[in-house]
Amino acid sequence: MAYNVYGIDLGTNNIKIYSKNDDKILVEKNMIAIENKNTVFAYGDSAFDMYEKAPGNITVTYPLSHGVIADIKNMETLVKFFISDFQDGSLKPSEFIIAVPTDVTEVEKRAFYDLIKDAGVKAKKIMVVEKAVADGLGMGIDVKTSQGVIVVNVGYETTEISILSLGGIVLSRLIKVGGAKFDEAIRNAVRKEFSLIIGGKTAENIKMTIPELDKAGNGAIVYGRDIVTGLPVEREIPTKLVISSLEEHFHTIVDNVKVILERTPPELGADIYRNGIYLTGGASQVAHLAERLHEGTGLKVNACENPLTSVAIGLAKIINEDNYKSVAYAIEGMSK
Ligand SMILES: Nc1ncnc2c1ncn2[C@@H]1O[C@H](COP(=O)(O)OP(=O)(O)OP(=O)(O)O)[C@@H](O)[C@H]1O
Ligand SMILES: [Mg+2]
Repeated sequence: MAYNVYGIDLGTNNIKIYSKNDDKILVEKNMIAIENKNTVFAYGDSAFDMYEKAPGNITVTYPLSHGVIADIKNMETLVKFFISDFQDGSLKPSEFIIAVPTDVTEVEKRAFYDLIKDAGVKAKKIMVVEKAVADGLGMGIDVKTSQGVIVVNVGYETTEISILSLGGIVLSRLIKVGGAKFDEAIRNAVRKEFSLIIGGKTAENIKMTIPELDKAGNGAIVYGRDIVTGLPVEREIPTKLVISSLEEHFHTIVDNVKVILERTPPELGADIYRNGIYLTGGASQVAHLAERLHEGTGLKVNACENPLTSVAIGLAKIINEDNYKSVAYAIEGMSK
């Protein structure tokens, strides 16, 4: 295939890659399974399938932690595998735009650039873009002309709260709350109230089915291990308990959004008030979070149509529309 441009959103839980030539977004778990400490056994969704089930000689891990690269070597390997898959195994020179969080150190930001440079993917040109800017574009906001937009992206291990104006970031805060904390809260509540240990995937499943459970008026049927007897059992977990276990984290998100709003220059206030909050990220879909945000801030909350891929959709716009090219920038000292 011809010269290509890729847009990458490296999430702690999911990696999203837009390929210009295919005009398609790949979403895969950002996970790798290593056998006997040195061989790649599986990657992406198939590594995730083995998570919490793999035998002792296979380690399944996430190379990102809290939105930043924690395991460079495995992250490079994953990027190389995913990019090769787009090109049927033969790597051709390509360009890359990578979305980076704003509220991290310069070293951590640069690590995203170095990752692509060193991943062995024949990168001819590498540009970066602030995640929230891509998110705004992905949600259909004309970020270059808007003055005062608040974007809240609730991901797996992080929530990024950003104020955008005229194509740039005015304020941004990355907090360590997201889908993983929601799952953990559900697990802890079930353990405390029912003396029952459930797996991470079970907790995630409960979290995602709250709306249906609410509607049906049922609790969630789960399988786990009884702490006292050590035996596997089935239990029905009341939906109320699940919802109340999440409130603490919803509070943290709402409080941080309020802090950011308080620090926002008043000149941007009018547009923020008019536009409301743009809520995205996979975990932003959790039941009742949008309501809490609305109650806590008094602002309208716009739920995103494609919360998992809004950053990647924005990257696609930057890649395909000349008007938005200028929001991506080169990191100093990079070789062409
Ligand atoms: N329907 C749903 N309801 C609630 N949560 C959901 C739903 N679908 C996905 N999620 C959650 O979204 C999270 C993944 O979202 P996303 O892909 O945006 O995170 P990420 O970008 O990998 O993480 P981060 O931005 O923190 O690095 C997971 O915790 C998952 O459980
Ligand atoms: Mg993310």
